[in-house]
Amino acid sequence: MNVLWIFAHPEPRSLGGSLRDEGVRTLRAQGADVRESDLYAMKWNPVVDADDFGSAAGSDRLFVGSTSKSALQTGELSADIRAEHEKLAWADTVIVQFPLWWYGMPAILKGWFDRVFVKGLGYGIQRPDGRTARYGEGTMNGKRAMVVLTTGSPEAAVGPRGVNGEINEILFPLQHGALWYTGMSVLPPLTICGADRFSPEQYDAAAEALRERLRTLSTQDPIPFRHQNGGDYDDSLVLRDELAPGRSGIGVHLAG
Ligand SMILES: Cc1cc2nc3c(=O)[nH]c(=O)nc-3n(C[C@H](O)[C@H](O)[C@H](O)COP(=O)(O)O)c2cc1C
Repeated sequence: MNVLWIFAHPEPRSLGGSLRDEGVRTLRAQGADVRESDLYAMKWNPVVDADDFGSAAGSDRLFVGSTSKSALQTGELSADIRAEHEKLAWADTVIVQFPLWWYGMPAILKGWFDRVFVKGLGYGIQRPDGRTARYGEGTMNGKRAMVVLTTGSPEAAVGPRGVNGEINEILFPLQHGALWYTGMSVLPPLTICGADRFSPEQYDAAAEALRERLRTLSTQDPIPFRHQNGGDYDDSLVLRDELAPGRSGIGVHLAG
């Protein structure tokens, strides 16, 4: 197994940093090859600039839609982005780990997706039949992904009726909008809750939960997101009326 562990936390001695160390150690002990993108340690630049955008790609207008060449196609991507592409191509499994900040991922990690998932790799992939390959299809097809996160909120408060909203709804932009969008199978997240007040016993339990999830990475059932091109959506990409009848919202994009 080739695992890319993407980690976004400024403090390696944090709870998150300890869990990352534990996870990487566990995977290596299992015989997996692990590479890391430790974004703060790498001083990752999270801000898309004009060069990343392909502004030097030979067109004097950028708003020309799918006919414009991406920086990926023209080979003008910066070295830090190319290095991440190389790691992604190598990996069959991707772990994305972060503390939940304001209902989302830290900005440095959002900026990893913004800069790394460029046109031609993250989006804008045409199938031979003219449809766009996304949501279950794409360049990341065949890879598995899992989100590992810590939250300050206790477990009940990110549960189905918790005040934060349910954790899979909070993670919908990442899990559905980026990982599934690019074709990865997304395993249920590992959420370590109540992380601001952790006893040694709670740490041991969290580390064991992480080890267990890592031991079964290749056998866990992914979240059953619907495929865009599997017949569930109409030509406007709206879920067909007969599926999840009368319901709306994020949950309808799960099959069954
Ligand atoms: C800027 C910031 C925003 C936060 N937003 C949330 C939040 O939206 N929901 C939540 O449950 N916890 C939130 N927290 C708490 C963190 O998730 C928590 O401190 C972290 O997961 C603990 O792990 P650590 O010790 O490894 O940092 C936030 C913390 C910070 C610093």
